[in-house]
Amino acid sequence: MNASKSKAAVKVPIKPVAKPAVKPAAKPVAKSAKAPMASVKPAAPSPEKARLAGDKIDIGIKERDREKIAAGLARVLADTYSLYLKTHNFHWNVVGPMFNTLHQMFEAQYDELALAVDQIAERIRALGYPAPGSYGEFSRLTAIPDTVGVPKAEEMIALLVSAHETVVRTSRAIFPAVDAASDEPTADLLTQRMQAHEKAAWMLRSLLQK
Ligand SMILES: [Fe+2]
Repeated sequence: MNASKSKAAVKVPIKPVAKPAVKPAAKPVAKSAKAPMASVKPAAPSPEKARLAGDKIDIGIKERDREKIAAGLARVLADTYSLYLKTHNFHWNVVGPMFNTLHQMFEAQYDELALAVDQIAERIRALGYPAPGSYGEFSRLTAIPDTVGVPKAEEMIALLVSAHETVVRTSRAIFPAVDAASDEPTADLLTQRMQAHEKAAWMLRSLLQK
């Protein structure tokens, strides 16, 4: 025991006392000393919890209005999807001297419609309601009749004009509810959709004029 002391004392007479003692003691770990009563917490029926669980929507539109708008959008979605399918069908089955023009035009149109159905469905979800997504629901909700068989090219065009006009009317019909609820995102979406359908209807209609 005495050996180390005397060794150090021999080599460096003054320093060896201070260094080894300081470091290990330097970390004070006791900051949480004041928390013994924290486990009591009142169990509030927290709206936060409901919100976190996704049960509550508070975007400044009354539930009744959200429901009404979502139901209207479901019809717009069903119309749009039916028109998408009809346009795709005609893209596949069109024949005749206008084949190239129509085949390509229909493709551009169904591509646009495929993006649109997603936007409409997701707006319904943002309003808090499930989006319809089956042929059964779509055929119940849509105002666009199914096409049976393979129409002639000109008839295809006329059927598409009529279907585009139908989507515009369905969209326009829910505008009063959308306006009354100050639902600007839906108004914006519907405005874009009506513009797209009115333009497509005009272009298709132009093909029929002689
Ligand atoms: Fe194709």
